[in-house]
Amino acid sequence: MGKLNEKLTLLNGICPYFTMFPLDFPLNILKRRARKTDLVLDPFCGRGTTNFAARLVGLNSLGVDSSPVAAAITASKLVTATVDDILREAQLILTEYRANQIPTSEFWQWAYHPTVLDSLCRIREALLEDCSTAPRIALRGIVMGALHGPKQKTFPSYFSNQCPRTYAPKPAYALRYWLDRELLPEPMDVLAVIERRAKRYYGMTPVINGSVRLGDSRNEISLQPDHPENRFNWVITSPPYYGMRTYIPDQWLRNWFVGGSDTVNYTNQGQVVHASPKEFSDDLQQVWRNAARVCADDAKMVIRFGGITDRLVDPPVLIKSSLNESGWRIHAIRNAGTALEGKRQADSFLRKKTKPIIEYDVWATKQ
Ligand SMILES: C[S@@+](CC[C@H](N)C(=O)[O-])C[C@H]1O[C@@H](n2cnc3c(N)ncnc32)[C@H](O)[C@@H]1O
Repeated sequence: MGKLNEKLTLLNGICPYFTMFPLDFPLNILKRRARKTDLVLDPFCGRGTTNFAARLVGLNSLGVDSSPVAAAITASKLVTATVDDILREAQLILTEYRANQIPTSEFWQWAYHPTVLDSLCRIREALLEDCSTAPRIALRGIVMGALHGPKQKTFPSYFSNQCPRTYAPKPAYALRYWLDRELLPEPMDVLAVIERRAKRYYGMTPVINGSVRLGDSRNEISLQPDHPENRFNWVITSPPYYGMRTYIPDQWLRNWFVGGSDTVNYTNQGQVVHASPKEFSDDLQQVWRNAARVCADDAKMVIRFGGITDRLVDPPVLIKSSLNESGWRIHAIRNAGTALEGKRQADSFLRKKTKPIIEYDVWATKQ
């Protein structure tokens, strides 16, 4: 990629998410193989990597995810907003809004300085009231990306006390960590953090947009294209890895920011079922069937799939069974190497040893 394109890709890093695949994975497929008018679908879009890749090559796409955090991150990668508009919106909210619901438990007192928490609550409530414009969707993505992370030596980049960036710490553990080390949350200029991030991520964005939907892909309606006469030509996706049930609880702080509870949310509503390999495979099969129904006759699907090594389940067997009678024919299954769960090795706040995940790429065509 040339220099200009490297700058364009920065927006993909606006907010971390779990088990995201590298941008190059969907980008290389679309750059090499897609036609100019192709439409792209990701029924498990996560932080919107496939949709952003489609945007970079000038293709329209639809992303669907049942996690409000994933849908909000993806939305922030598909809008076109200027730095000035984002800052004007943030300034307006911070001067004109008053927060009504400020969490008060000990965790929150230690997680954020009171003035920072007040600003975050103002922005949260204003965006919950209306997040329909491009600057507001961008602002939501920026604040989510800065909500928690490590303390920086130069100027602050994250609003929280010392935290991991990829997942939200559980309150009891985090409190112990901060108390043991006497780490107090610091005051900071919230607007300055937003400005630095707006300049980094929205200094330059491609014009093509794309859309995202908060929905359960097991329901046929969730995958309907925006225009009913359209058909998707590509499905590039990565379903939850078998045994990883923590997408919602591990993102509970960001989930709070998009309207969820200010305590850890352990429900897995809208998520595929991990109770047994059979139930998991049946759920995936339903999604593949729904995808086949909204795809063109010559559509292709590429699935990156993996499993945590200590589960007594063979990922290729599981994915093959999910594709059985799903409307898709498998062409190839390739070993894509290993990845570390949620890239946790990058965090200074490690709670457990990371486990390698063996990944496979499955190529299929519509039957
Ligand atoms: C492996 S992640 C996708 C990561 C994505 N490829 C990326 O780069 O960010 C799987 C996603 O599937 C979502 N998911 C799980 N069950 C779902 C369902 N029934 N409908 C839609 N999304 C679902 C999870 O919320 C999670 O974001």
